[in-house]
Amino acid sequence: MLEDIQSVLLSEQQLEARVAELGEAISSDFAGKDVVFIGVLKGCFIFMADLMRHVTIPCSMDFMAVSSYGSGTVSTGAVKINKDLSQDIAGKHVIFVEDILDSGVTLSYLTNYLKVRQPASVSITTLMDKPARRKADIKADYAGFEVPDAFVVGYGLDYNEKYRNLPFIGILKPEIYS
Ligand code: IMP
Ligand code: MG
Repeated sequence: MLEDIQSVLLSEQQLEARVAELGEAISSDFAGKDVVFIGVLKGCFIFMADLMRHVTIPCSMDFMAVSSYGSGTVSTGAVKINKDLSQDIAGKHVIFVEDILDSGVTLSYLTNYLKVRQPASVSITTLMDKPARRKADIKADYAGFEVPDAFVVGYGLDYNEKYRNLPFIGILKPEIYS
């Protein structure tokens, strides 16, 4: 697995420190509010698990599963909901937890999709932000790291369902997907 990685972009230490800061910021900004964190599967699973242990306010958690990518590295632009929420979000402050904001198509679709259920507010927390590739008009409220336009894997992110279990974020060698 390691032989497919060109370089380490974000080390375990960098991830740990920044994820703690995000959890602390969210905890103070949303103190006293009725908050539900919505993880966007599957890429969010490691980030969300670490983030939630730094969130010190009472909150609930739910998950959505979407597919937008097929097996390539470039978004198809189409978003399909594979798993919807299992709780009512009316009147609640929704915080999406996403691994990476790339074209922004997924999260702009999801924010619109949930608006009719009348949440009190909708915010976005993303571990990484790749602003160079943005197509939809959408911004993260909390972004861990701004990253260059390279295909990254690890810490939950995959290429063809592999590499999610790497403990760091690495840049995948282009010959793996070209
Ligand atoms: P968007 O709709 O283009 O913003 O797509 C976001 C989703 O695409 C993310 O949640 C990831 O699952 C996937 N994605 C985008 N860039 C990368 C990458 O560099 N590595 C792995 N997955 C990525
Ligand atoms: Mg994802």
